[in-house]
Amino acid sequence: MFTRRNFLNRAALGSLAAVSGVGLSACSDAHAKEEKPADAVKPLAISTWDFGTKANEAAWAILTTGGKALDAVEAGVMVIEADPLNTSVGIGGAPDRDGHVTLDACIMAPDGGCGSVCALEHIVHPISVARMVMEKTPHVILVGEGALEFALAQGFKKENLLTEASRKAWEAWKINAKYEPKINVEVHDTIGMLTIDQNGDIAGACTTSGLAYKMRGRVGDSPIIGAGMFVDNEVGGAAATGLGEAVLRTLGSFLVVELMRNGKSPQEACEEAVARIVKKHKNYKDFQVGFIAVNKQGQTGAFSVQPGFNYALFANGENKVYDAACSMTK
Ligand code: GLY
Repeated sequence: MFTRRNFLNRAALGSLAAVSGVGLSACSDAHAKEEKPADAVKPLAISTWDFGTKANEAAWAILTTGGKALDAVEAGVMVIEADPLNTSVGIGGAPDRDGHVTLDACIMAPDGGCGSVCALEHIVHPISVARMVMEKTPHVILVGEGALEFALAQGFKKENLLTEASRKAWEAWKINAKYEPKINVEVHDTIGMLTIDQNGDIAGACTTSGLAYKMRGRVGDSPIIGAGMFVDNEVGGAAATGLGEAVLRTLGSFLVVELMRNGKSPQEACEEAVARIVKKHKNYKDFQVGFIAVNKQGQTGAFSVQPGFNYALFANGENKVYDAACSMTK
């Protein structure tokens, strides 16, 4: 069974507002309630979690000077990958249960090109390796040793990603740990990011160290195109955060984009994808999943299973954090 995130106090979680009401917003999202613009909003950057504001800033600098959505989304998530204090992405990420920091990432371009790395060790910027998989190989995914060999051949530097703080936390976890996968222990998780450039083109990226103290070799949703992130430049993009297994089982980001293709707004699409996860998982009260989405018009949406998910949106010159609406009451 999956264990829940520590920040979720089960006792504090009320019952579902209504079983059929999943998708009905029980928590507040100021942005979701705002009047949505009819015209395309561009440029734009949206990222999971409040730390996404830093990613958005880096992306915005590129987008407002005529740069491409793909360059912006890569530069954005690189800021978080390089932050040793962030324990769920890049250097400083929590290791697996054997003490290895293994990173997952994927990137998708407006032309439908995509690249991914799974269980990559020793490289601070898996997102840039994923981009090189997309641009310099005939493949989409490289994993483990092969991904590392490819990265080193491309000139990436081999580094120790296990910081002293992460090592100490892992040592502390080992004292009482049950030898089982555990959802990330901190409030924050994967960064998923979507950008729209001045041409209206959309790109996406997703990068994480995955579930803290996971089994060696475990890969989550984040590097899987269509699960952790998906972009169709004719329609929009989506990205996921939270328990990757639940997102994988429902191919969540692809689902959100397909729902938008079929006429749903980004908000409605995120709500339906969360409802699908809740419907397919009896233990949904024990984990968190959140989605962000944007469509071609620059309308955005976000929704999660549990309270506590937030996202950062840089649009119309303002970089703000919003609490996402969710399917469960506090
Ligand atoms: N969403 C991150 C993971 O489950 O690995």
